[in-house]
Amino acid sequence: MKCFANCLAVFFLAVWAQAFAVEAVSRADLNDIPPGQVIYNSVCATCHEAGVPRAPSQQMLSFVAPQAIYRALTEGVMQPMATSLSDEQKVAVVEYLTGKPLVLEGEPPLLRCEGEMAQFDYRQPPQSTGWGMTLGNTRE
Ligand code: HEC
Repeated sequence: MKCFANCLAVFFLAVWAQAFAVEAVSRADLNDIPPGQVIYNSVCATCHEAGVPRAPSQQMLSFVAPQAIYRALTEGVMQPMATSLSDEQKVAVVEYLTGKPLVLEGEPPLLRCEGEMAQFDYRQPPQSTGWGMTLGNTRE
């Protein structure tokens, strides 16, 4: 009878140890997965990996600048899809997708015409109307 009690104790100890080991392994696995990947898989992949029309795949998103993805999430078309994410989580998913750090300060300014150069007279005919450069296609 004593052996039975001891054997039972050893059995339960073994089961407990195994459960503990399994939990430890799955925790270690979870710790190895970057948080951005967890977010992408749970929030974005439902569309971006499911062939939703126009939704760029993860590979296409990896070619996009981090700032562009961040802007899509904060002020662009993906804003409604990212409402459940904190700013930190948005940065994590951006950096995971692009493999680059998100740098928002010191961005190069947009190149655009300013002052008099920014004026455009819509009443004027276009200077270039086709392959010939002039209205008569004289190529001059
Ligand atoms: C409900 C489906 C859906 C979910 C969820 C979703 N997206 Fe999208 N995403 C789209 C679609 C559709 C487009 C294409 C939109 C378009 O072209 O107008 C798109 C476009 C984008 C673009 C390009 C935006 C642009 O300005 O061209 C980025 C970047 C992006 N998604 C990132 C994400 C990230 C990151 C997540 C997760 C946080 C996410 N999306 C979640 C459907 C989704």
